[in-house]
Amino acid sequence: MIMKKTFSLIAGLCCMMSCAGPDNDIPALIPVPSEAVFHGGYYTAGGASSPEDYCRLAEVCVDSVRYGSVGEEGYELEVTRKGIRINAATEAGAFYGKQTLMQLVSGRGVRCAVIHDSPRFPYRGIHLDVSRHFFSKEEVLKILDEMGRYKFNNFHFHLTDNGGWRIQIDRYPLLTELGAYRVMKDWDGWWEMDSRLFCRKDDPGAYGGFFTKEDIREIVAYAAERHINVIPEIEFPAHSDAVFVGYPHLNCTGTRYGNGEFCPANEQVYEFADNVLLEVMELFPSEVIHIGGDEARKHAWGKCPACTELMRREGMTDVSELQCYMISRLQKFLNSHGRAMAGWDQIIVNDDLDSLSVSYTYRGQRGGILAANRGIRTVMTPGEILYFDWYQADPKQEPKAMYGYSPIKKMYAFDPVPVTPESAAANESMVQGKYVSPDTSIFIRPEMAGYVIGVQGSTWAEYIPDEQHLEYMMFPRFLAVAEQAWSSPDRKDWQDFRYRMNVHRHILEARGWNVYDLHNAPEIEITASGDRSIMEIEPENPEAEVRYTLDGSDPVIGSALYSSPVMLSGDAPVTVKAAPFIGGRRAGYIRELTVTPGESYRDYYPYMD
Ligand code: ACM
Ligand code: ZN
Repeated sequence: MIMKKTFSLIAGLCCMMSCAGPDNDIPALIPVPSEAVFHGGYYTAGGASSPEDYCRLAEVCVDSVRYGSVGEEGYELEVTRKGIRINAATEAGAFYGKQTLMQLVSGRGVRCAVIHDSPRFPYRGIHLDVSRHFFSKEEVLKILDEMGRYKFNNFHFHLTDNGGWRIQIDRYPLLTELGAYRVMKDWDGWWEMDSRLFCRKDDPGAYGGFFTKEDIREIVAYAAERHINVIPEIEFPAHSDAVFVGYPHLNCTGTRYGNGEFCPANEQVYEFADNVLLEVMELFPSEVIHIGGDEARKHAWGKCPACTELMRREGMTDVSELQCYMISRLQKFLNSHGRAMAGWDQIIVNDDLDSLSVSYTYRGQRGGILAANRGIRTVMTPGEILYFDWYQADPKQEPKAMYGYSPIKKMYAFDPVPVTPESAAANESMVQGKYVSPDTSIFIRPEMAGYVIGVQGSTWAEYIPDEQHLEYMMFPRFLAVAEQAWSSPDRKDWQDFRYRMNVHRHILEARGWNVYDLHNAPEIEITASGDRSIMEIEPENPEAEVRYTLDGSDPVIGSALYSSPVMLSGDAPVTVKAAPFIGGRRAGYIRELTVTPGESYRDYYPYMD
């Protein structure tokens, strides 16, 4: 008998917060494919045991005539008891088919299935800052492995910033001789020094490192084998303290320390930028080169005679126009070498961005909405939602992280293409950490939706001092971004995802990653019902049960077990405390909420500071 089940059927069976979990017999695929029908039975082959073995056994057909049915990166995968077939229009599509195939493998063989799949976005990114703290080539390669498995196709490599210059440039050896090592590893300690001193590699206490050209070539080639493009980021005009240690004449004051912006009026700066970018372009075949563009402090420009003279000559009335001037020149230079420019969302102030330039939206969603509506290609990576260096669990109890609070559910809830006031308002509520009305929300005009070319999870490293912690901050949130980037919106389902994510969390652990174990406090949602309220509670970890109290005491194993929505009534406010338990022990933080019956509450992930 053929048993047919699709993910949407599972989704339909699961209610909002009391779902018992999906059918264990359905493979947990991440990102969820466009269409998947599972048949009874497995394909097994003598001698094959690992996912890689089964990949080798698959009959793979790459034929561009399929472009019409599966698109550039899509695939069809059919597994029967007799064999495995993957059809795709490109090698990338075939690669993604194999990644899905490997997720169908269990101890019983390969689950019989018919899958049609293609990505939602052409750009699916992970960003890594190796400047504030340095991570090894080996760690980068490991991340690329996971990116390939979860169908990411762009690695945004943040190679230069105030914390250190991380790429060998032959023409400017002092960038790495003097700018790749600093006198202190601890970020806050170093940042708060009177002068943020750099040093040489062999000085006592030196912290840092850089990638040689050989390292970079290896990384780029390793990525290409996984159909991942590596986008290098070289910061202009700001975030460049590490440059001026060796080349102080390139900022307005000619000083080594304390002025991190290039002088936009100094022709030697453009000579430097061109020469550096030439060496960078030689290493990175990427169509797009990222030039930073964010957060320039302009105070030195306003006092600089050369800058003032340039402003006079060009008829500029505000120092901020110097930023546009520099971005324009960088764009022109990259274009003249057949590359497109990318920058953080400050670049949309330039009115001369060409049709290939890409703005990376990081200050909320607003810049992305404005960019798309102006016909500028944009990648959505709003810091308040998709930065991995934000707290993933109660900021009062987690190791130090950046600013605010972005648990995995929030990352999953984000709508990267808000084409209605309601979806923009839902995003904006999460950006601001409080309810925002659709009446006040700008949104993307539906006909401009295609200008959102993708989604990116970004990893800044001020408070990520080592690789263990990097992994802790990235995984499993990485999985939410993978599904955001690949899966179509009608396939997204939080309840279904959280169980699949939990399966993959253990798979990632088994592959050796230091994965965050979902120990956040349970989420509480309160819905008004007349003069009473209905309370629903969801543990972050689907393996946990929730115990709660209504008298202000901390939940213990003997406290009430949450199994279905609870009615709260009476005139007085009620203090709810809820905690996850696994195997009779508390397995995470306590959530506390004081509720007045008759009122509603839902979590917009306030910063909790
Ligand atoms: C950024 O977070 N400064 C791009
Ligand atoms: Zn200047």
